[in-house]
Amino acid sequence: MKEFEIAIIGAGNLGVALARGFSKHIPKEKIVLTRRHLSRIEHLANEGFVTTDDNVSAVERAKFIVLCVQPKQVEAVLSELDHSIDIMSHVLISTVTGVSLDRLQKASSQSLPIIRAMPNTAAAISESMTCICGNELADAHLKKVETLFTSIGETMIIEERLMKAATVLAASGIAFFLRYIRAATQGGIELGFEAEEAQKLAMQTARGAASLLVEGTAHPEREIDKVTTPMGCTIAGLNEMEHQGLSSALIKGIVASYNKINTISE
Ligand SMILES: NC(=O)c1ccc[n+]([C@@H]2O[C@H](COP(=O)([O-])OP(=O)(O)OC[C@H]3O[C@@H](n4cnc5c(N)ncnc54)[C@H](OP(=O)(O)O)[C@@H]3O)[C@@H](O)[C@H]2O)c1
Repeated sequence: MKEFEIAIIGAGNLGVALARGFSKHIPKEKIVLTRRHLSRIEHLANEGFVTTDDNVSAVERAKFIVLCVQPKQVEAVLSELDHSIDIMSHVLISTVTGVSLDRLQKASSQSLPIIRAMPNTAAAISESMTCICGNELADAHLKKVETLFTSIGETMIIEERLMKAATVLAASGIAFFLRYIRAATQGGIELGFEAEEAQKLAMQTARGAASLLVEGTAHPEREIDKVTTPMGCTIAGLNEMEHQGLSSALIKGIVASYNKINTISE
């Protein structure tokens, strides 16, 4: 029986979001977070999480190891942990963008069960979309890792070849949708709402639109048809957005993001 359920190695933006999400199901004292600048996560220790700058000790005392460092830091961290990861009792989960199962395996001297998980920062409020894949040795662990991430949102098991696309759609996607909400807010302010009111209208309307799809069997275009009265204001606005390239800009942005990820990772 391990002292910690989860060790989050690299408590930055994503690591902290994951810890907050997991803590809704796992006691905070069973979640250990590490980073080198320990003072920056002092507030988490005050909240009841365990924090340390000692990766080795965190890993040795934990069941799941969740790697949340930047891609360039992977080799150094895995080399430091090489003798602490026990292939019988540990599951290594990497959230690191663009670092393949193969590259993760090469960074260790042992043959490890390795799982890649691509969550997003909405993990903090249990609304992540997490894509998951693993190497052959991880087959036996895939279900329990999926269960772990299902506790903080939706999950999808995918082939590793789709992991970069998943990163763009679901991890970077948080920024894309937030920018839409910000733009809608700015439009609302121009029409007379206070910023806070306009943001509330934009946020709840975005949530409503997504929920129509999430909770029903609706198709986006069918739902759009229900809102667009012939010769009405909605179709006038929507068509103008399309003339200005809304769908095209979104698709091009997603593809540009994907092209970029292909240049910065392997
Ligand atoms: N942010 C997202 O929305 C998101 C979504 C999906 C995937 N990801 C991926 O998740 C990873 C982390 O992203 P992030 O946005 O959270 O980055 P971040 O904020 O830069 O966090 C990385 C953390 O790793 C820590 N770190 C670096 N070296 C370390 C070491 N040797 N031991 C322990 N901790 C160490 C850093 O803190 P110190 O410098 O204090 O050590 C930092 O807090 C990246 O690979 C990213 O691509 C991010």
